[in-house]
Amino acid sequence: MIKKISAFARITTLSLTVCLMLACSDSGTTQVSPLNTANTQYDLQLDMQEYMNHVLEPVADTLWDSAGWVDDIHTGYEELYPETDEEWLAVKHKAAQLIEAGNSLALPGRAVDNDGWLTYTNALSTAAAFAYRSAETQNQEDFFQAGAQIYSVCTACHQTYNPDISRFASE
Ligand code: HEC
Repeated sequence: MIKKISAFARITTLSLTVCLMLACSDSGTTQVSPLNTANTQYDLQLDMQEYMNHVLEPVADTLWDSAGWVDDIHTGYEELYPETDEEWLAVKHKAAQLIEAGNSLALPGRAVDNDGWLTYTNALSTAAAFAYRSAETQNQEDFFQAGAQIYSVCTACHQTYNPDISRFASE
């Protein structure tokens, strides 16, 4: 059985810091709905849950799975960082997709407000851009830090807009 050490567990306290840095409010709202859904020119058929489960999470998971380690009781410690140019290029693709995923989360008709929401979506793209540059220079430490920043933004937005999200928090 593989026990995956959560490389990001140690940075969970960062989310509070990020929350403070972003001056997020503790609204306590459990259901969010997009602002200005009328007359949108975008295809927004994916609702927020579908967007999270099928767009954001798979892309972020690929990055996190590439920036950490596993400790297998049978095979021992194993690093997960990309090793070849091709592997670094593959995570660079994912980081680029995450930059743009941050933009599409901010689209009119999907954004929940024009305030904190956009701060978080922008922070997501900024952290993803850090991952993108780190993949470009194949810098493991920066890539790890970028993964931690991405995680902090996800968590901070969830704490602000949907504190009930437990599935993601427990992973
Ligand atoms: C701008 C705010 C925001 C950011 C940033 C954000 N999320 Fe979410 N996320 C939400 C909201 C709001 C919900 C609740 C959706 C609902 O239940 O209607 C949610 C729900 C989820 C869910 C649960 C979906 C379900 O089926 O109930 C997952 C998984 C998730 N997000 C993953 C992520 C990951 C991974 C990231 C970062 C890479 C992230 N989210 C970043 C706002 C955000």
